[in-house]
Amino acid sequence: MLTELRLLMLEDAKPAEIEKRLPPDEAEALYAWHGKKDGAVKAFLALKEYGEEEKKLLYKPSKKTPASGKKGNFIVLEGLDGAGKTTHIELLKKRLNEDGRSVYATAEPTSSAVGGLVRDALAGLHTRSASELAALFLCDRIQHNVNPKTGIAGFLQAGTDVICDRYYYSSLAYQGIDSDIGWVAHMNLDCPDICRPDACIFLDLSVERCIERMESERLTTEIYETEEIIRRVKRRFADTFRMCNERENIFIVNADRPKETVSAEIYSIVKGIK
Ligand code: TMP
Repeated sequence: MLTELRLLMLEDAKPAEIEKRLPPDEAEALYAWHGKKDGAVKAFLALKEYGEEEKKLLYKPSKKTPASGKKGNFIVLEGLDGAGKTTHIELLKKRLNEDGRSVYATAEPTSSAVGGLVRDALAGLHTRSASELAALFLCDRIQHNVNPKTGIAGFLQAGTDVICDRYYYSSLAYQGIDSDIGWVAHMNLDCPDICRPDACIFLDLSVERCIERMESERLTTEIYETEEIIRRVKRRFADTFRMCNERENIFIVNADRPKETVSAEIYSIVKGIK
């Protein structure tokens, strides 16, 4: 399904790359949408010289296999605010429980002391730079992995599946808009104490629909919840997934469909994890 995020991910791609990344029907849909010219997709024609900004995106993370010997599956749900992560985490947990799996549902930022600092900054109570925030999220994430009682690594080793609402992909996307995304990627993806998820499922809903939902559901607003920032974050998610596509299992799910359809797709992705 050619979702908004997939289009963003392909924005600068050459046709050969488009055909490598998309199944034939989606590539055809893309060509039908943008038209082809001399074997190239019109909208993506200009093969840009890489500028400084794009060079940062060429960063290739090196770490291969964290959490070795683990028995549970580690699943992350990502998406813009309002994309439906909370609902789908509950539904997925219920279905996995029905299959007899033990499941730990968790979220970032956490309720740790550092998580509290992050929440204060998100609420606008303390002004923090993007780099400060990136470091705080990192610290919270390390604690979230290694805490002997509530850490993700321990649950996975014990055979419990972990479902996490947001993870390092959010750091790259949110802090990556105002800090150096390569640096944020490096400290998260190469940190030996941070487990790599078995699957990252991105719930793709248009920016307009996310804003509509946020406006109807939220009583307060956080620092990232303006339309302009949400649009930039969405682009950064596309950059993030392009950047880590090789080493991460990323699934983009069209969230603009009935809840049951979306939930069935998420479940089938999780069942497909080897
Ligand atoms: P949420 O609890 O409503 O998902 O809000 C968390 C906010 O924190 C959301 O705006 C995204 C942001 N965030 C980051 O900026 N970086 C991160 O690494 C994480 C996990 C979340």
